Amino acid sequence: MNRCTKYLDIARSTKAFNEAELDVLSELLGKCLEGSDEEGYMLIGEKVGNDDIAFLICGKTPMTEFTYDLYWIVVSPSYQGKGIGRRLVSRMEESVLKEKDKANIRVETSGKEDYAQQRAFYNALGFRECGRIPSFYREGDDLVTFYKAIIKNDPSGGKGKNDKL
Ligand SMILES: CC(C)(COP(=O)(O)OP(=O)(O)OC[C@H]1O[C@@H](n2cnc3c(N)ncnc32)[C@H](O)[C@@H]1OP(=O)(O)O)[C@@H](O)C(=O)NCCC(=O)NCCS
Repeated sequence: MNRCTKYLDIARSTKAFNEAELDVLSELLGKCLEGSDEEGYMLIGEKVGNDDIAFLICGKTPMTEFTYDLYWIVVSPSYQGKGIGRRLVSRMEESVLKEKDKANIRVETSGKEDYAQQRAFYNALGFRECGRIPSFYREGDDLVTFYKAIIKNDPSGGKGKNDKL
């Protein structure tokens, strides 16, 4: 099984995404893995042995000086709750801080009740909710924007909270 199919299978198995979202992911994974991506997406993967078990896709936000979007983060259900999502975000932060002295990371997610664990995850990692558009995705399903500011050589080791907001 190629890595694109494997990652898509992991995403499908989380039951967090609908078919339209999986189609978008499939296209993006294709671009990242075939190296045909001209928009600068970055794919970070986690393995156990030879098995792909989790991935994150992020990229520099166009028209910004030091802002990055975290577009996708997916951990295989049997590996969730073991610190792998935290490690993926921390690897993204390390990689971003190789390019910049400081950065903003933006994440957009759903305000649905069954996305409470995703919002708890971002909160636990020091992200803060900074915007909400009611019924953005569909009736009753808000767009929730989270943000985290990071700096190089942060004495808190990136665990600091965004109290500025
Ligand atoms: C959201 C997701 C990426 C989190 O990854 P994970 O590996 O399970 O998370 P971690 O084990 O690294 O958890 C990190 C922190 O988040 C918090 N957290 C994670 N899952 C949580 C949950 N279900 N409820 C409350 N808090 C949670 C914990 O406080 C944890 O902190 P700790 O390290 O102090 O215990 C993963 O559950 C997933 O892939 N979900 C399905 C796909 C998805 O929804 N992606 C995001 C779309 S916006």
